Amino acid sequence: MQTLPKSVKIVEVGPRDGLQSQSQVISSEDKINYIDLLSETGLQEIEVTSFVSPKWIPQLADAAEVSRSINRHPEIIYTALVPNFQGLQNAIKCQFRSVAVFTAASESFSQKNTNCSIDDSMTQFQDMRKLWEENDLRVRGYISTMWHCPYEGPINIEPVIDVITKLFDLGINEISLGDTIGKANPNEVRHTLDTILNRWDPASFALHFHDTFGMAESNIIAGLEFGINTFDSSAGGIGGCPYAEGASGNIATEKVFSLCDSMGIETGIQKDKLDEAAKFIRSILKKESLIHAED
Ligand code: HMG
Ligand code: MG
Repeated sequence: MQTLPKSVKIVEVGPRDGLQSQSQVISSEDKINYIDLLSETGLQEIEVTSFVSPKWIPQLADAAEVSRSINRHPEIIYTALVPNFQGLQNAIKCQFRSVAVFTAASESFSQKNTNCSIDDSMTQFQDMRKLWEENDLRVRGYISTMWHCPYEGPINIEPVIDVITKLFDLGINEISLGDTIGKANPNEVRHTLDTILNRWDPASFALHFHDTFGMAESNIIAGLEFGINTFDSSAGGIGGCPYAEGASGNIATEKVFSLCDSMGIETGIQKDKLDEAAKFIRSILKKESLIHAED
C-alpha cells in the first residue's frame, strides 16, 4: 500500500478554463466576484484568466480589466495563461508574478489550439524565456492531450517524454499534465506516471483532468498513489476547451476537496466558502443561459 500525500495543493482553474468556452457572455463584474469569492476559500493558487487573442477566445477579452480589479491576497498565487510573447508582456503589465504557457502532446491539437506546431510553441517559449527570467516569474507549463487527442486518438508516451523534457529544459517550474477531453482511465494515468516518475520528481507535476466520462476522480486517486500532490480543478465543475469538441468541465474543486477530506488529506480549503463560490458561478451561468434561451 502506497503512502498518500498528507496534503495537496488544488489549483483553481475555473475563472480561466471554466469560463473560456462558455457560450454566454459573463460580465467582468461577475468574473471578479467569482475570483474574489475563490480568494476567500483557502485555495493556494488561482488561474485568473488568459492573455490570448480575443478573436480566438472572446470570452476572456476582458483579461486586463479583470486582473486589475480582483482583490489579491498576498498568500495566494495568481496565475495567467499566456500563449506567446505578447500575452506574457500583457500579463506582466497586469502584475502577474506567475504565468502558465501551454502546448500539447499531439500535433493536430497544437495546430487547432494555437495555430502552430509543438516545436513552434517551444520556439515561442524560448523567445519568452528571457522576459520571464528578468521578471523572476514562476512558470507553469501545460501539456494538453496527454492521453487522448480529439483529432488523433490515443497518444503514445514518446511525444509526451519529448515535450516534458523540452519544457523542463526551458526552466519551467511545474508541468500540468492535461487530459483535455476527459478520456483517460486510471490504467493509462498509472502507465504514464510510472514511466515519467522514473526520471522526474512527482513534485514537479500537476494533474489536470476534465471530467467528461466521470473518470477524473479515479484518475486523481491514481495520481495520489504515485505521490502527485497538485491537482487542477474548477469550482462548480464548469468549463471545457473550445478546441476540443465534447470536452466537458474540469473536475469540480468541490469533488477534489471531498475526496481529499474523506481520506484525511489536507487541502487548506474551507468547504462553506468553496460551496459559496461554486454556487455563485453556477447561478450566473444558469441565469445567463436562461436569458440566452429567451433571446
Ligand atoms: P494567430 O492568429 O496564429 O497569431 O494566433 P498571430 O500571431 O498571427 O496573431 C493574430 C492576431 O492575434 C493579431 O492581431 C495579434 O496581435 C493577436 P491582429 O493584427 O489580427 O489584430 N494576438 C494577440 N492578442 C492578444 N493577446 C495575445 C495575442 N497573440 C496574438 N497573446 C494565438 C495565435 C496563440 C494567439 C491564438 O491561436 C490564440 O490566442 N489561441 C487561443 C488558444 C486558447 O486560449 N486555448 C484554450 C486554452 S488551452 C486549454 O484550455 C488547455 C488546458 O486547459 C489544458 C488541457 O485541458 O488540456 C490548458
Ligand atoms: Mg483544461
